[in-house]
Amino acid sequence: MREPHVCRRKGPLRGSFAAPGDKSISHRALLFGALATSPSRVTGLLEAEDVHSTWKAVERLGAKVYREGGLQAGAAPPSPAAVIIEPPPSLLEPTDVIDCGNSGTSLRLLCGVLAAVPGLSVLTGDASLRRRPVRRVLDPLRRMGADLSARDGDKLPPVVVKGAALRGTFHRLPVASAQVKSALLLAGLFAEGETVVEEPAPSRDHTERMLAGRGVALTVDGTRVSVRPGRPTGGALDVPGDISSAAFFLCAAAGLPGSRVTALGMGVNPTRTGLLDVLRAMGARVTVSNLRESAGEPRADVTVEGGELSGTEIAGALIPRLIDELPVLMVLASQARGRTLIRDARELRVKESDRLATMGELLHRAGARIELFEDGCAIEGPAPLRGVAVETRLDHRIAMSMAVAQLFTPGDEVPLDDVSCVRTSFPGFFELLDRLCGGEG
Ligand code: S3P
Repeated sequence: MREPHVCRRKGPLRGSFAAPGDKSISHRALLFGALATSPSRVTGLLEAEDVHSTWKAVERLGAKVYREGGLQAGAAPPSPAAVIIEPPPSLLEPTDVIDCGNSGTSLRLLCGVLAAVPGLSVLTGDASLRRRPVRRVLDPLRRMGADLSARDGDKLPPVVVKGAALRGTFHRLPVASAQVKSALLLAGLFAEGETVVEEPAPSRDHTERMLAGRGVALTVDGTRVSVRPGRPTGGALDVPGDISSAAFFLCAAAGLPGSRVTALGMGVNPTRTGLLDVLRAMGARVTVSNLRESAGEPRADVTVEGGELSGTEIAGALIPRLIDELPVLMVLASQARGRTLIRDARELRVKESDRLATMGELLHRAGARIELFEDGCAIEGPAPLRGVAVETRLDHRIAMSMAVAQLFTPGDEVPLDDVSCVRTSFPGFFELLDRLCGGEG
């Protein structure tokens, strides 16, 4: 059901918050827990629709997943309950189609796992996911002996997978993609011999950290990852806060003078912290404190204070380190003095929506000076923004980015046509924005 929302808030933002659990790590916690040789107990798991898609998928494959206290996926509001995953002796052929909803990570990673599960599996998703490319994962999996096919000449979901015997293969990826890399490494757990994946630049390395930390024979050498067959062990995992969710508040604070916000317990894995580098390069004050590590992932309390910003360049190896933060960074760039140039970000066109086209059009209509390229954009600031009506296009990050854009208008309203998509990654986003805009110290 469509859920309209009118943004009419005022900054600055002040206060501290615990960002919801990291989405990438939450998916992996469930998936690797289902493949494990013993049960897992996960605290801080993101309770949001995308992760619930993976949750339901692994249940279809025979895992038992439940909250301590016994509530089912989707049955409760975000809750601090630990989640237990009891793996089956081996994954089972699913008895029905697996619906990944809006979640590209669920669908891509499951392609790798299902490639070796005996029987037939079908993966599908919502209208947004069924427009997103899968050939990038089908082609390399086929070279391992996998039997997969997809709609529209193998380009788009649904994907049909028939379990097959896999062989370890060397893969050189044309684009840095943690989803494709992870799918291949997961297939490698079931393949004969060694599977090697080389990327043009490092993408997020949660899969590597989590599998190596759970006893899998996985080694990393620069941008090359090798894995040998095996199953991870279970155990305890505490999920850090998601920088990609905290980003909306950190960017809003950076651009609104008088703001000061702190994201508590936020994941600061260096493959994810491109945003902090860019905020610093733009002149924002970023303070990292209380740095610690849990289950192989660093986390910290990160404070951002607002002030005068200047334009910067975002390109090359930085892009995979902040790919999901680019929509809100485009908003922020409209408020920075001078030119911000984003390049090498073609991947933005195949996310939940074509984020370059969507943000380009919305920011242009809102009064930003923006020029779009095939692989990025140039934004000239500062430009005051005005209220625009937003179609969120089943893309949570468009909805949240435009809620931040509204804060840079002189009090205009920004009506969002449908914010139900925000529940895929961040239930409670608008309530938290209200609280931080309420100006608590
Ligand atoms: C993700 C990887 C990224 C990111 C997505 C989550 C993951 O996609 O955009 O939101 O969990 O592996 P790509 O690796 O395909 O760029």
